[in-house]
Amino acid sequence: MDAFVIEGGRPLRGSLRVNGSKNAALPIMAAALLTDQPIDLRAVPDLADIDNMKRLLASLGCHAIESAPGAVRLQSIDESSSHARYEIVRTMRASISALGPMLARRGEARISMPGGCAIGQRPVDLHLRGMEALGAEITLEQGDIVARAPRRAGGKRRLRGAPVFLGGPFGSTVLGTANVMCAAALAEGRTIIECAACEPEIADLADLLIAMGARIEGAGAPRIVIDGVDELAGAAHEIMPDRIEAGTFMIAAGIAGGSLTLENCPLDALMALTNHLAEIGVHVEEHPGSDPRRARCDVSYEPRRDGRLKPAQVTTQPHPGFPTDLQAQLLALLCLADGNSVVTEKIFPERFLHVAELSRMGAQVFRQGPTAVISGVARLVGAPVMASDLRASACLVLAGLAAEGTTTVHRVYHLDRGYEKMEERLAALGARIERVDAKELESAPAQG
Ligand code: EPU
Repeated sequence: MDAFVIEGGRPLRGSLRVNGSKNAALPIMAAALLTDQPIDLRAVPDLADIDNMKRLLASLGCHAIESAPGAVRLQSIDESSSHARYEIVRTMRASISALGPMLARRGEARISMPGGCAIGQRPVDLHLRGMEALGAEITLEQGDIVARAPRRAGGKRRLRGAPVFLGGPFGSTVLGTANVMCAAALAEGRTIIECAACEPEIADLADLLIAMGARIEGAGAPRIVIDGVDELAGAAHEIMPDRIEAGTFMIAAGIAGGSLTLENCPLDALMALTNHLAEIGVHVEEHPGSDPRRARCDVSYEPRRDGRLKPAQVTTQPHPGFPTDLQAQLLALLCLADGNSVVTEKIFPERFLHVAELSRMGAQVFRQGPTAVISGVARLVGAPVMASDLRASACLVLAGLAAEGTTTVHRVYHLDRGYEKMEERLAALGARIERVDAKELESAPAQG
């Protein structure tokens, strides 16, 4: 299993281009199941989760051809199997994105029920409620969700449009909204999704669906209106830049110090972060240009010039609030602030596995329920630490960049799910970081 070995204390300088978004790409790839025509995607990131989605789609008869880096053609050529099996689903929760497209196009879907994961319970009740509202009959068989659309005149199975409310205990659901939007695109009649997720990845998916011939209005807002059509065609689409990757590098510039220029940065989707960074003392100069979704920005923090970082109070919320996917990284930054910060996690209240690892590096964090109180320290010290999930891994890498001495981040396969060649990109900016095979470094798991 690979690990990163990081010698901290080197500022980051230079520029980098933000890659296509993982969380936009995954449901967009699943949308290729809505047609037998080719879907040509550009800016598809080269990540473990994208490979998992290709494997899942291939098992459902939808094959991927990569003509150039980031250019992927997907085409469903065999629609006879609609079973997303446990072996693949357990490696990637986003497999649930196949439910809506399969049910809409093939009239039925069987998907292994995703389990919990390191960031907490991850139910799919809202997805299922959405499919039921569109007329699907849902049963649970052998750990699989089995969904069937109602039979229409002529015997064909087809969903029917309906009002769908997607509000849950923690707000809406991103992949649930994607699923219902895809399903409704081929349903008979009008669907109105109330309390839809407003994340920009939903608007990006809607852009592709509209290019395929879907009739959708309001994606990106809490009310989406979809008038179902009989068929969807092939289309081409460029995946939006990854706002979480961009945000992670912005925070990296703050924690390591230095100055970075980010190209292809979705600034309009990052206001909650840039506002907090300004408050904390990290400078973000925006150059929105003609398209604020693919802008340039300069991020800098020079400790000698700017003094200590300032504390902040941050609460994660659905978009456009502060994203849960940047909570761990920002928490690492706040460990070095001059004073007490408070971070409250309102999307995944258990998403704090990074806290114990940061403590091993000298951070002072007190967690109670969904809230962490961080007493800033003047320095972090390097230590061996264990990544537990994707964003917690990024948090530990950032902490390692700032820490005195050597930090070894074990189990970086979590990081590889969502960040393309993270170590190479950081090294190109001046970080001292390398990937090693951690067999010899891996210590025995703690007992008891
Ligand atoms: N929820 C329910 N019932 C449901 C679905 C969700 O109660 O049926 C709850 C969840 O437990 C959570 C909240 O609603 O408390 C929001 O979950 P959501 O469904 O929006 O999450 P998701 O769609 O499964 C996506 C991202 C996550 C990101 C969340 C929140 C993808 C592939 N995943 O997950 O990304 O944290 O939205 O923004 O898009 C990551 O990239 O590291 C990651 C975990």
